Amino acid sequence: MADVAPVAQRSTTPPTDDRDYVIRVEDLQVRFHTQIGEVRALNGVSFGIPRGKVLGVVGESGCGKSITGLSIMQLVPHPGRIVAGEVWFREKKDDQPKNLLSYDRHSNEMHQIRGKNISMIFQEPMTSLNPCYTVGNQIMEAILLHQTPRAEEARAHTIEILRKVGMPNPERIFGSYPHQLSGGMRQRAMIAMALSCTPVLLIADEPTTALDVTTEAQILDLMRDLQAEIGMSIMFVTHNLGVVAQTCDDVVVMYLGRVVERASVDEIFYEPKHPYTVALLRSIPHLGSRRKEHLEVIQGTIPDPYATVSGCPFHPRCPSAVAGLCDRLAPVETAIEGSPRHTVRCHLYPGSTVETVAN
Ligand SMILES: Nc1ncnc2c1ncn2[C@@H]1O[C@H](COP(=O)(O)OP(=O)(O)OP(=O)(O)O)[C@@H](O)[C@H]1O
Ligand SMILES: [Mg+2]
Repeated sequence: MADVAPVAQRSTTPPTDDRDYVIRVEDLQVRFHTQIGEVRALNGVSFGIPRGKVLGVVGESGCGKSITGLSIMQLVPHPGRIVAGEVWFREKKDDQPKNLLSYDRHSNEMHQIRGKNISMIFQEPMTSLNPCYTVGNQIMEAILLHQTPRAEEARAHTIEILRKVGMPNPERIFGSYPHQLSGGMRQRAMIAMALSCTPVLLIADEPTTALDVTTEAQILDLMRDLQAEIGMSIMFVTHNLGVVAQTCDDVVVMYLGRVVERASVDEIFYEPKHPYTVALLRSIPHLGSRRKEHLEVIQGTIPDPYATVSGCPFHPRCPSAVAGLCDRLAPVETAIEGSPRHTVRCHLYPGSTVETVAN
């Protein structure tokens, strides 16, 4: 579980920006101190999700997508620690934003926020379903806690949501234990649990990876419907760039615990700036590509998470790296001229100043 600095050290003054963000993450840093060394899982992650919008979070395995989601919920597993950063959450448009990291992770405020205001679909379904309780009881528990004290109403609502996520015979599934379900059904049970309280923000960590394409399409439709119906915002973590193109409004591209580019979905797909984003997009098949055309692979491998890389973390794999610059100095986030919401962390872009600190 995450350890955070005491409340007194945490900022309670929100950053100024007129846009209606449901969540704004500022300079989030997470470390894992293990026996064999320190993993800098997040190295200053910042982004915002506007109300009612879907933010796609993409990047190779280990870049920090799940830890970002878990940090927002204050659920970083031991021995992880949030060592710096702010997470500003605003439930309603006119509310004053609250820095969630100023609350103790066991506080009533955090218990209220988890499940009721912010829900998470975890990457591994079995870690969040309790094997000792039926699926129906587990979903109903959250509804009884946050929505209605009446058991009959909660039961009807549970069955309805199980039907919505495409469960066959939801009345029977209500009384089943997690081990009696297939992997895809467990995934849907977990999605039902996350959606049952109609959260303001849904953090969906690879929610459809274990599902067949038909069920995946159904779940994506359901999330879109809820988004339209209740104005839910979604942080959508996925490896599937096709799903990002279909589902997301904005995209954050992560590499080694940093956001290297953020922009609208069109800007990412049609005008990618960071060499890593360009390489990611080249490594997926396109409609119309010739049958014998080889897909491009990103050269090299992701650096060892225990190692520290000087300069830009992508420079050892970057085809455009400038010797003496990219290998020495870390680029700061720069806004692209003419599109202020499109930012990139790369020395190739004018206006990019450099940080003198090592990574
Ligand atoms: N319990 C842990 N102990 C040590 N390091 C950890 C632990 N959990 C995560 N990490 C490290 O934190 C970094 C970010 O992990 P995270 O799970 O967020 O990656 P991810 O982007 O979600 O990857 P994937 O796409 O494979 O799910 C990785 O380098 C990982 O090794
Ligand atoms: Mg993950």
